[in-house]
Amino acid sequence: MGTAALNFVVTLGLAAPASGAPVRVVQGEGMQVRAGAVVRDAQAAGGRAVALRPAGVASATFVSDAFGAVVLRVRASRCERARSLSVSVDGGARHAIVPRAGWHEQRVRLALPAGRHAVEVAYTGPRRSRCRALVDRLRLPAPRPAKPAVEAPPAPAATPLRRPVPLGASVQARHFDDPGYEAAFRREFASMTPENEMKMEIIQPQPGVFNFGPADELVTRARQAGKAVRGHALVFGTQTPPWVGRLLLPSDAEAALRDHITTVMEHFDEDVREWDVVNEALGPDGSYRSNPWFDKLGPRYVELAFRIAREVDPKATLVYNEFAADVSGIKRDATANLVRGLKEKGLVDAVGLQMHHSLATAPTREALESTMRMYEQMGVQVQVTEMDVIAGGPGALSDRLNIQADAYRRAAETCAAVRACTRFTVWGVSDAYSWMGVDELPLLLDASNQPKPALAAVRDVLG
Ligand code: XIL
Repeated sequence: MGTAALNFVVTLGLAAPASGAPVRVVQGEGMQVRAGAVVRDAQAAGGRAVALRPAGVASATFVSDAFGAVVLRVRASRCERARSLSVSVDGGARHAIVPRAGWHEQRVRLALPAGRHAVEVAYTGPRRSRCRALVDRLRLPAPRPAKPAVEAPPAPAATPLRRPVPLGASVQARHFDDPGYEAAFRREFASMTPENEMKMEIIQPQPGVFNFGPADELVTRARQAGKAVRGHALVFGTQTPPWVGRLLLPSDAEAALRDHITTVMEHFDEDVREWDVVNEALGPDGSYRSNPWFDKLGPRYVELAFRIAREVDPKATLVYNEFAADVSGIKRDATANLVRGLKEKGLVDAVGLQMHHSLATAPTREALESTMRMYEQMGVQVQVTEMDVIAGGPGALSDRLNIQADAYRRAAETCAAVRACTRFTVWGVSDAYSWMGVDELPLLLDASNQPKPALAAVRDVLG
C-alpha cells in the first residue's frame, strides 16, 4: 500500500444549524491527491478552502488509482457537545467519530473502488455549539503498474470506427489571458463547457443576486469564435451556494430551484442550446447523494429540475450527467434507471458520461459500447462530457502517453460506432490547467499546448 499523506488544509469550525440538521463540512473542495503525492494545503493542491456556513454542502475529492483499502484519519477538537460527528465517503455509510473535548484522532478504513471519491464530515450539535474537525491524512492503495502495452489486439471492426463527432473542451474564463490557451482552444475544439462559471455557487452566490459576468465572457468568446456552448450545470449539489442549505421549507427550496433554472436558462437563451440539468445525483452504491436539494426535497428534485428546464426551453437538449457510470455495475444501473424514468416522461434527451479515468481504469471498447448501446435503445443520446485520463506516475513517459492515446482512441471509436453518441468533450484544453494537476498529464494537449499522441488518436476517429 502506498502512503499518500494528505493534509486537508484548514481546520474548519463546524457550526450547528438552528434546526439541528446535519451540517456537512466543506474541506478543500476540488482537491485531489494520488498515492505518492503529499499535499500540504488545499490551495497548493488546486483546491479551495471554503468558509463553513451552517448547513453548507460540499466535499473534498480524491482520486484512488486502484481498488483497495483507503484509510482516512479524522482529527477533531472540542466536539464533546456533539449529538453526532461522522465521516462518510461518496454519500455512503456514516462512520461515527467519538466526540471528545481535546484534539483527538480516529482512523476510518474503507474498501473503495478506483476512481474519484468525495469525503464529507457531518456534525450535529446544540444550537451555537462549535466543533472543529478535519481529515488530515489519507492513505490510498498503491496504483497498479501501468501496462507496458495494450494486451489484446483491437476487436475487428463490425461497426464503423470513424464518424465526425464534435470535439469539445471545458474552459475557464481566467485562462483566456494566456494567448496560447486561447489559440489552442480555437484551433482544436468545436465547443466549450464552462468548468465552473455556470455553477450555482458562482452564478447565484446569494439569493436573487446573479453574477453572470464570467459566464457571459465565455459565451461572448464562443460566439466570436463560432463555437457551441454546453451549459454546465444547472443543479449540482456539490457546488451549490450555502444559502440553499439554509432554506427552511421544502416549498422554499422548490421556489429557489425554479427561480434559478428559469433565470439562468432565460439569460443564456439561444447561446446555450444544451444543458447538464442535473449533475452527479447518485453515489457509488446507486443511492441519491445528500445535498441541499436532496435534503429538502428528496429524490424528486431531479425530476422537478428537468420539468422546469423543459417548461422554460422546450427545444433545449436536456442532459443528465454522471460520473463513474460508463461501465457496468451498481452505479451504471442506477443511472440507467434514473434516465429511463425521466425519458418515459419525456424530460431528458441525453445522458452525459463524464469519464474521468486513469490508465488503469479507462474502459475497453466492449465495456463502453454496452453502456452506450443501452442508452441508444432507450432512445436518448449519449455524450462523453468530461473525459480525462491521468497518466502521471512511474514508467517511461512515451509508454504512458501511448497507453493514454489508446484509452482515448477506444472511447472515441466507441462513440463513433454508436449513432446515439453525439458529443465528445474532454475536461480541459491542455494539461497546463487541468483540475487534476499539470503533472497528471490527463488531456489531449501538453502544458505547452502541443498535441499529444492522444489528440492524434481522437482526431483520427472523430475527424
Ligand atoms: C471541477 C472543476 O474542474 C474544478 O475547477 C472545480 O474546482 C471542481 O469542479 N465533475 C463535474 C465537474 O461535473 O463540474 C467538475 O469540475 C469535475 C467533476
